[in-house]
Amino acid sequence: MHVSSRIRFIIAFLMLISACNSNNANTKSTEKNTSKTEAELLADGDSMATTAQRNLLMQVSSAIQKGGTDYAISYCNENAMLLTDAVAQKYHTNIQRLSDKNRNPKNAIMLEEDKLAWEKINQLKTHFIQVNNKGETYYYKPIALAMPTCLKCHGTQNDIPLSTQRLIQANYPNDKATNYTLGELRGMWKIQLATAL
Ligand code: HEC
Repeated sequence: MHVSSRIRFIIAFLMLISACNSNNANTKSTEKNTSKTEAELLADGDSMATTAQRNLLMQVSSAIQKGGTDYAISYCNENAMLLTDAVAQKYHTNIQRLSDKNRNPKNAIMLEEDKLAWEKINQLKTHFIQVNNKGETYYYKPIALAMPTCLKCHGTQNDIPLSTQRLIQANYPNDKATNYTLGELRGMWKIQLATAL
C-alpha cells in the first residue's frame, strides 16, 4: 500500500472506531457526574445488565444448540465469567452475578452490603441503587429463572439430564443452584456505577 493511502486507511479506521463508541450512549454512564437522578442511574444500570444478560443468553443458547447441555456446562464453566467481564470492561466497571444458592463459589453473597441488597431484592422484586459505606454506588437487579431452558441446568433431577448432572457435580462440587422452578428468583446483578446519587 502507498504511504498516503495507508494513512488515509488508518484515519478512516479510527473514525469508524470512534463512531461506534459515540453511538454507544451507555459509555457516558461511567463518567463522573454527580447530577444524575436516581431514574437516570437506574436506566444506566439496567441497560448494562440487559446487555450482559443478552450476551450470556445468546452464548448459552448457541452452546446448547452446538452440543447439548453437557457441552454448554463446560462452555459456561470456562466462559461465563469472561463473558460478563468483557461487558464490564466495555463499560469500564465491575459486573457480578450473585446468588444465595450459587453454583460458582465466586458468585456467593459474602459482603454485608450484598446481604442487605439480597434481602431488599427478595422484598421489592425490582431493581434499585444502593450506596455502600465507602460511598461507592451500586446497581442491583433481580435475575429470575424466566425461561424453561434455565431448568435444564438449574431445575430438579427430572429437568436436568443425568449426564449433565454429573458434569455439574464434577465442575462444581459445592453446587447449590438446582431445584429451582420457573419464575423463581435465581440471583441478582451487581454493577458498580461511577456516578453518585
Ligand atoms: C447449560 C446449562 C445452563 C443453563 C441452560 C443455564 N445456566 Fe445458569 N449457570 C450454569 C453454570 C455452569 C453456571 C456457573 C457459571 C460460572 O462458572 O461462572 C451458572 C450460573 C448462573 C448464575 C450465577 C450464580 C451462580 O449460581 O453461580 C445465574 C444467576 C444463573 N446461572 C442463572 C441462569 C438463568 C436465569 C438461566 C436461564 C435463562 C440459566 N442460568 C441457564 C449453567 C446453566
